[in-house]
Amino acid sequence: MELTVAITGASGAIYAHRTLIHLAASGVVERINLIVSEAAKTVAMVELGFDLREAGEKTINEWIGLATDAKMVRWHRLDNMAATPSSGSHPQAGMMIVPCSMGTLGAIASGAGTNLIHRAADVTLKEGRKLVIVPRESPYNAIHLENLLKLARAGAQILPASPGFYHRPQTIEALVDHLVFRILDQFGVPHSTATRWQGESHNREPERAD
Ligand SMILES: Cc1cc2nc3c(=O)[nH]c(=O)nc-3n(C[C@H](O)[C@H](O)[C@H](O)COP(=O)(O)O)c2cc1C
Repeated sequence: MELTVAITGASGAIYAHRTLIHLAASGVVERINLIVSEAAKTVAMVELGFDLREAGEKTINEWIGLATDAKMVRWHRLDNMAATPSSGSHPQAGMMIVPCSMGTLGAIASGAGTNLIHRAADVTLKEGRKLVIVPRESPYNAIHLENLLKLARAGAQILPASPGFYHRPQTIEALVDHLVFRILDQFGVPHSTATRWQGESHNREPERAD
């Protein structure tokens, strides 16, 4: 499977990091087309202390648990409109934007994109492929909400960065992975089933203290 992963400058760089780790470990993904916005590099530095500014594929490989010479990740420059994700004739399963800033959201919703992330998202929609958007802002204003609705109507899958708590996460990674696994589900990428809801019996006897 080939996928495009875009990282933009919304808070939540850890979502991108964990998504890449799980895609790399899934055993079904052969190629990750990685596109990182300039603002995403700043946020990754602020939130994770990870410097993406000078990073290349080797550094990314190390960051996500791959061998340094692994060929899975292909890093595309943001201004390279000739990169493979910019063309509908290049076959791939789809694209995810994790996390997605309101700026990128607006650019895609307007159809007036200016960089490779916007173009690749536009192509994904026009080709009828899966586009998963993980927006992050709080609160949302009416423009954000309209853009989300516009993209949902255009076929994008909106997965807000709002993880659940019903699996009782004990670490930030476990909390983040709850959302990451929902993203992987959208593409049928296998992962740990630990955060899937298995159902609950409301008739269960309460545990006795004695
Ligand atoms: C630490 C930090 C956190 C940010 N968090 C958000 C956020 O949660 N949502 C958002 O839409 N923008 C956020 N921004 C602002 C975006 O980075 C900014 O609008 C940028 O222009 C987005 O560009 P991009 O869409 O090309 O990544 C944040 C910026 C910084 C430095």
